[in-house]
Amino acid sequence: MSSQKILEKHKICILPGDGIGPEVMDQAKRVIDLLNTFERSHISYTSGLVGGHAIDELGEALPKETLRLCEESDAILFGSVGGEKWDHLAPEKRPERAALLKLRGHFKLYANLRPSFLLKELKNISPLRGEIVEEGMDLLCIRELTGGLYFGEKGTYSKNDSIYHFDTMAYSRPEIERVTHLAFSEARKRKKKVTSIDKANVLDTMVLWREVVSEIAKEYPDVECEHLYVDNAAMQLILRPSQFDVLLCPNMFGDILSDECAVICGSMGLLPSASLGMDSFGLYEPAGGSAPSLTGKNMANPISQILSTALMYRYSLGNEKAAEVIESSVTSVLKEGVKTKDLIYSEGEDFVSTEEMGSLILKKCERLLKGDS
Ligand code: IPM
Ligand code: MG
Repeated sequence: MSSQKILEKHKICILPGDGIGPEVMDQAKRVIDLLNTFERSHISYTSGLVGGHAIDELGEALPKETLRLCEESDAILFGSVGGEKWDHLAPEKRPERAALLKLRGHFKLYANLRPSFLLKELKNISPLRGEIVEEGMDLLCIRELTGGLYFGEKGTYSKNDSIYHFDTMAYSRPEIERVTHLAFSEARKRKKKVTSIDKANVLDTMVLWREVVSEIAKEYPDVECEHLYVDNAAMQLILRPSQFDVLLCPNMFGDILSDECAVICGSMGLLPSASLGMDSFGLYEPAGGSAPSLTGKNMANPISQILSTALMYRYSLGNEKAAEVIESSVTSVLKEGVKTKDLIYSEGEDFVSTEEMGSLILKKCERLLKGDS
């Protein structure tokens, strides 16, 4: 590796949020601090209040000041939001919708990337049978994030003495096009296969989805393209996850299938995500939620937050090297059999705390950085 120093300065906004967010974020910050110390990045960060904490302190899940900090930054490193304490609020006031969905919409983060990988060292924790897991799984779920059922018109009406609540699923051609281009470009960096998910046998929007994806596929003749109905895809993922490379999904289906992908890997605590817009700005967050039952116990797995940080280096900060250092440090700690509680297979197996996992990953990073300086 070359010892060239990256001098570009970046500013990021850290939003730890609720539940385990703050404690896993502390470990991600240690990684950034280390890369800064070794002059492999020049990141300054500010922190903002978001989610339930922000509701408690300032009365809203995404305070103006927080949004301003995000607008002044190159990327958002996000923890998690929500918890039982705020579940009684009106749906549009709850942290998930009032903070996370608002940020996605505000910054037009139209694509959500969730890589899932199954390490053979951790195959015991997958709920799938040994011979299925044996074939491995390494896929990238790309979910359309600012359209479809999540952002369509919604409301109520009355008919036949009943009140109906409705949400609508709508997609325009450009919305499908941009996320499809991204999926094919990402597939080119991988195994060159895109599986597009829809429900074109029932829904008109999904007929358009399939049509647009098929058209764009022609621009990428080196990438294989297939189409699956979402119900079949849910089944195929369980039967043979190794058949997939890039899964391209409409918003709602991507929400569901990405959790399925995560659980096949054994723990939500392992998997990162990146939400991207048209420029390099992005929001990076763990795939799992705020995990209230683990909060404050120093037991949560910090890996998804740390790997989300790696994605931030890659996609928003153009620092592939930093991303690789982080990712290979995490992989090597996992391959050595180090586990947080969510990764243990049988009772009696040893596990480390959130902080210890952070320290071990940090040590690996440091070794790699020293070898490279
Ligand atoms: C996710 C989450 C969110 C979503 C919630 C928290 C609003 O499940 O990022 O997958 O549904 O998009
Ligand atoms: Mg989800």
